[in-house]
Amino acid sequence: MPHTLLIYSSNDGQTKKICQAIASDIEQAGQTVQCIALQQANDIDWQEFDKVIIGASIRYGHFNKALATFIARFQEQLEQRVHGFFCVNLTARKPDKNTPSTNAYMRKFLEQSPWRPQLQAVFAGALLYSKYGFVDKFMIRLIMKITGGNTDTAQDIEYTDWKKVSEFAAIITAQEQ
Ligand SMILES: Cc1cc2nc3c(=O)[nH]c(=O)nc-3n(C[C@H](O)[C@H](O)[C@H](O)COP(=O)(O)O)c2cc1C
Repeated sequence: MPHTLLIYSSNDGQTKKICQAIASDIEQAGQTVQCIALQQANDIDWQEFDKVIIGASIRYGHFNKALATFIARFQEQLEQRVHGFFCVNLTARKPDKNTPSTNAYMRKFLEQSPWRPQLQAVFAGALLYSKYGFVDKFMIRLIMKITGGNTDTAQDIEYTDWKKVSEFAAIITAQEQ
C-alpha cells in the first residue's frame, strides 16, 4: 500500500490544516499518510515513503527560508518518488491568481527552484486578524486595503477552497508509485 508523507511549512496553521485535510482524504481512500512540520523533517526515513508532498505558506512575499534549504538538501530523495508542492497565500483568494501558472508566488518558486514538482497546486489561505500582533495586523490590513480585500479586523476569514483541496488529494491518491 502506498505511504505518503506530507510536509508543511506553516506560521499560523492554515497550511498545516490543509495538509491534515489532504491526509484525511488519502486515508479515506485506503492509503496511509504521515504529516510533519518542515522543522521536523530532517531525519526522514525516505525508504518508508512512496509519495511526498510539501506545502508552504507565504509571509511578506516569501516562503520560510528553511524551504529552499530543505529542497537543496533532499532534491534527489524527492525526485525518487511521486513528488509535489503546493503554495498557500492570500493573493490566491482571487480567481485569476489561484493556479500554478497565474499565482505570482508559485511562478517565482517554479522559476527559481531547481526542483520541478510533478504535482502542483495553489490554495488561498486564511485572514486571521484575531491572531496577528499589532504590526502584522496593521500591515495585512494595509495590503488588504490596497488589494481590495477585507479590512474589518474584527472578522477572520478562511478563503481556502476545501473542494479544490480534496481534488488535489484525489490526484495524489491516484498516483502510481
Ligand atoms: C505576516 C503575514 C504576511 C503575509 N504576507 C503575505 C503576502 O505577502 N502575500 C500573500 O498573498 N499572503 C500573505 N499572507 C497571507 C498568508 O499567506 C495566509 O494567511 C496563509 O493562510 C498563511 O498560512 P499559514 O498559516 O500556514 O502560515 C501573509 C500573512 C501574514 C500573517
